Amino acid sequence: MDLWNWIYISRSCISSADIESEITDIVDQSRLKNAELEVTGVLVFDGTHFAQLVEGPETNVRALRAAIESDARHQDIKTVLDSAATERRLPNWSLAYSGRSLVISRAIRRAMRDIEQGQPDAGTRLGSFLIDLAV
Ligand SMILES: Cc1cc2nc3c(=O)[nH]c(=O)nc-3n(C[C@H](O)[C@H](O)[C@H](O)COP(=O)(O)O)c2cc1C
Repeated sequence: MDLWNWIYISRSCISSADIESEITDIVDQSRLKNAELEVTGVLVFDGTHFAQLVEGPETNVRALRAAIESDARHQDIKTVLDSAATERRLPNWSLAYSGRSLVISRAIRRAMRDIEQGQPDAGTRLGSFLIDLAV
């Protein structure tokens, strides 16, 4: 099986009144669909931005990416990493989720700065952070 890894950052378009229940719905539905697709991953939210890592069979990750990219609940989707993977790093999580916290805000801010500055290791840094958070 060819494993693929996609990491992105996006900006939420969900109104603040609905945010908690909307994210709960996204995570609940994603856990079911990701399990069907043999996709595993982690999603974080800092109050403004999402960051997500998805890993799994290349075709399935690409299909999921297309669905996520056309979802109106977020915008300004920036791919941070899109590459082949040698191993699955979150085998036990169809989708881990973590909400607002100082460490998450910091990691997202740092990744956005890294991307702006064209840092080549922006993706691996954010990926390591997301994986450490979930395992
Ligand atoms: C921030 C964010 C993260 C998402 N993550 C996933 C995910 O990991 N898996 C998933 O199936 N859907 C996820 N979704 C929902 C998809 O964008 C989409 O609504 C869902 O896959 C259903 O698509 P479909 O109607 O084309 O099957 C996410 C949506 C948002 C806004």
